[in-house]
Amino acid sequence: MRIPTRQECYYIMYKMKMMDHIVAHSLQVCRVATFLADSLEADLNPDLVQAAALLHDITKTRSIETHEDHAQTGKQFLISLGYPRVGDIVGQHVLLDEYFASDSPTEADVVNYADKRVVHDKVATRIYPDALGENKNPGGTPVSFLFFFSRRYGKSPRA
Ligand SMILES: [Fe+2]
Repeated sequence: MRIPTRQECYYIMYKMKMMDHIVAHSLQVCRVATFLADSLEADLNPDLVQAAALLHDITKTRSIETHEDHAQTGKQFLISLGYPRVGDIVGQHVLLDEYFASDSPTEADVVNYADKRVVHDKVATRIYPDALGENKNPGGTPVSFLFFFSRRYGKSPRA
């Protein structure tokens, strides 16, 4: 499986002329996602989490003009570069292909969740069910991070 290094991710972000605030957002999502991957008792590939988090919005800058579906075009772009596993996760960063698919979180779950937790470049203390695709009622009650993980995976993350 090919996974771009952190340096290679930075180069791809540079070549795609990613806007500064999207770079800041992506770096923060990467911090949160890699923290979770390190902290959870789950069999996760840290290099895959890092690359997918850094590149999850790789086509977002141009999507502001084109209105393309940046999750899907980001996926296709990364597949075209030879990174299908990274592309698969990027394609699920807005909506997961499957919710509650397994007992243990996957790399796609972690990146999707980290993206929901990072609002611009700040880590939000609460997450809205709407953002998880679980609640179609806008303005639904926010749930805490611990509540989310304990309900979903039956255990809380290590501190
Ligand atoms: Fe995005």
